[in-house]
Amino acid sequence: MNRFPKKLLSLLDKRKAEHNFRALSLPNNNLIDFSSNDYLGFAKSAELKEVKDVIVKEYQINQQGSTGSRLITGNSVIHTDCEKEVAAFHHAEKALLFNSGYDANVGLLSSVPQRGDVVLYDELCHASIIDGIRLSFANTYKFRHNDLVHLEELLAKQKDAETVYVVTESVFSMDGDCALLKEITDLCKQYNAHLIVDEAHAIGVYGEQGRGLCNQLGIEQDCFARVYTYGKAMGAHGACVVGSTDLYDYLVNFARSLIYTTALPASSVALVMASYKLLQNTKQIQVLKENISLFNELTLPIEDKINSTSAIHCFVIKGNENVIQASKGLISKDLDVRAIKSPTVKEGSERLRICLHSTNTKQELTQLAEALLKI
Ligand SMILES: Cc1ncc(COP(=O)(O)O)c(C=O)c1O
Repeated sequence: MNRFPKKLLSLLDKRKAEHNFRALSLPNNNLIDFSSNDYLGFAKSAELKEVKDVIVKEYQINQQGSTGSRLITGNSVIHTDCEKEVAAFHHAEKALLFNSGYDANVGLLSSVPQRGDVVLYDELCHASIIDGIRLSFANTYKFRHNDLVHLEELLAKQKDAETVYVVTESVFSMDGDCALLKEITDLCKQYNAHLIVDEAHAIGVYGEQGRGLCNQLGIEQDCFARVYTYGKAMGAHGACVVGSTDLYDYLVNFARSLIYTTALPASSVALVMASYKLLQNTKQIQVLKENISLFNELTLPIEDKINSTSAIHCFVIKGNENVIQASKGLISKDLDVRAIKSPTVKEGSERLRICLHSTNTKQELTQLAEALLKI
């Protein structure tokens, strides 16, 4: 048998030496959840399962796998019905399902920007956005996080580009802060650029009935494409890209992460539909908002907190070893708070990343805030 390459072994050793070696561990369900993305408690809710079961019956879903890609045998009435509902909910002409948010971003960003085009993206964009952009043949430049002056400087330089795309998240996954979407939209209009927004952490949190931050700010129609993912507040799995009919047709023809993969099974699509139904009737969004406000009040005295009105709250503790120790200390108090280490975030900006949920009690929030104040 071939030996594992030495170069790769040394990379693993380097990770260990830098205290950022990753290993899969099983969740401890006895801890208080401050780390999952299940912001509204949907993933574990009996109601979601009940609504899904009704949909499964309604569509007479009796096969487990989808048996092929959407373009061959993997498509079905529930896929297209789900897409119609998603498009209507998000006020778009069309929606297209992908197997995950990662797939959606990679499919969209690798196929849409062409040679001769330019992509400008926020430096803190998620790995799936970066990977998608890397696979495209466009020229790509990052702008400093939420820095409108830098973005405008770059936009002004792109006179020779055929099409310019600006890509951002509405809520940044590792900081929890929001993009200055209104201002970015204005710049895109001024420079005739196409705006792409990843709403992964905004759906279920912002906007009317949790439609996202673009909805809240009234800029849905100013976006070229929006990405909604279902593995976070929606408590499910998968994602949709929403936009124009032309964009939909283009992605069906050119997005490789849609074309060359087995489609989501109908039961997963039923779960996405159930999630949207729940979202439109839930009180959990309001409860989450109240929890976020309370937590912000309780942690006001902490200096190294990144400002956030989202469900994600971060406290910078420099150094992988230090942040690991802080996380361990909180876990020993039954508070499941995870350390985000470099290189996932920039060296020197390692942090505790706290996800708030509608299901966290006031007492749990107070307990966490008190423990953080002690750190
Ligand atoms: C901003 C952002 N976009 C996309 C994704 C990927 O979504 P998914 O988990 O559905 O692949 C994530 C997940 O971490 C994310 O934070």
